[in-house]
Parts: sequence; C-alpha cells; structure tokens
Amino acid sequence: MGDSERSKRLQNVFSARDNSELASSYDEWAEDYEDDMLSLGYAVAAVAAGFVGRHVPLGGTVLDAGAGTGMFGSILRVLGYDDLVGINISERMLEKAGEKDAYHALHRMVMGEALGFDSGSFSAAVSVGVFTTNHAPPEALDELVRVVEPDGWVIFSVRKDVYWNEGFEQKQASLEKEGRWQRVTMSEAFQPFPAGNTSHMTRLFVYKTG
Ligand SMILES: C[S@@+](CC[C@H](N)C(=O)[O-])C[C@H]1O[C@@H](n2cnc3c(N)ncnc32)[C@H](O)[C@@H]1O
Repeated sequence: MGDSERSKRLQNVFSARDNSELASSYDEWAEDYEDDMLSLGYAVAAVAAGFVGRHVPLGGTVLDAGAGTGMFGSILRVLGYDDLVGINISERMLEKAGEKDAYHALHRMVMGEALGFDSGSFSAAVSVGVFTTNHAPPEALDELVRVVEPDGWVIFSVRKDVYWNEGFEQKQASLEKEGRWQRVTMSEAFQPFPAGNTSHMTRLFVYKTG
C-alpha cells in the first residue's frame, strides 16, 4: 500500500458533502484507518495527549468526541484516564473502538446536534482531528461546553484554514465573551501528517469552562 493510496483515502473524508456521506466514508475506511493514519505520521493525538496530561486531573469522566477507532482513548488510558466515554458519527469506527478496552461507554452521536448527555456530565471533553474540512461544525463546541462541568476542560484541535474560514474563530471568541469558557493556551501550528504531503497546519486549543 503506497502513501498516495493512503492520502487518497484521507482526502476522501474531507470531500464528504453531508453527514451521511461522511459516516459512510468512515465506515468504509474503519478497517484501514489506523494503518493509514500511522503511516502518514498522524501527530495530532500525540500533541493533544501532552495538553490533556498537562491540564486535566486524573479521576474524572472524560468525553472523547469523535473518538474514531479509539487511538486517542488508548493513549489516555495509558496516561491513567480510565473513565472514558466515546462518541462518533460512524458505527464501524465505534465498533473498532469497542475492540479496544479503553472506553467505559461508546455511543453513536453527531457533533453539531444535541448530545444525549446531561449538562456537566464530564470533567473534560477532548476532540482530536474532528474540527477539520467537512467534518463537525463550530456549533458542536456549544454542546461540548454544556456537557462539561464548571472549571472543567475542553481540549480540541482545529485545522488552521478551517479555524479562519469556517466560523471557529468567531464561535470560540463568542463563547469566551459569554463567559462560557476561557482560553488557557493554544499550541503552535503544526503539521498533522508530517510523513504525508497533504498536510494543512493544525492547532490545539485548551479552554477552561466558566
Ligand atoms: C480524523 S478522525 C479522528 C479520530 C480520532 N479522534 C483520532 O484521533 O484518531 C475523525 C473522526 O471524527 C468522526 N466525526 C466526524 N464528524 C463527526 C461528527 N459531526 N460527529 C461525530 N463524529 C464525527 C469521524 O467519524 C472520525 O471517526
């Protein structure tokens, strides 16, 4: 399997026209997803794990929003976060995540729609590689903030062009203006796929809920 084939499968999910096409593309990709991402040098989970470890105390329930096959959850488990809940739009990705022993519970939910959790259910919500082209919209952040308890954490990556062009800059600022969260830090922009040649720069954001 060449890198161009792997990049093609990655590009395929960026061109989904709606949620149904997105879910189908991930359903089809689920079997090869981890091999492809690791071969392309997927760096977002490693950077995000550093920020979670730096800020989020152990012991609470953490929501992994857009958990995929559970690669990030597996890293969090190693770091001692042992009460993890994952959500995803793709059933097949959820099945792959379920094969790992990382999550307490996994649910099919769509980010951008109302999430089926009570307010303040989690000590932190993390979302890695999901705020990118033709994936979850900025409105999904409202729900991540709602389901996290006050003084909790919302940590996520956003592709840089998507941040500027698809409403994330405005949504993140308006949540701050409303006192719903406060930005604690953000990473430098970095290459999410350093071994591939299709990278768009990405940033990690860390917010504390109000
Ligand atoms: C690039 S993968 C990242 C997966 C995982 N976080 C990781 O780091 O390996 C993006 C994931 O987000 C999911 N996803 C995309 N849009 C979504 C949405 N609106 N709601 C829920 N899940 C979504 C996809 O099904 C896919 O599993």
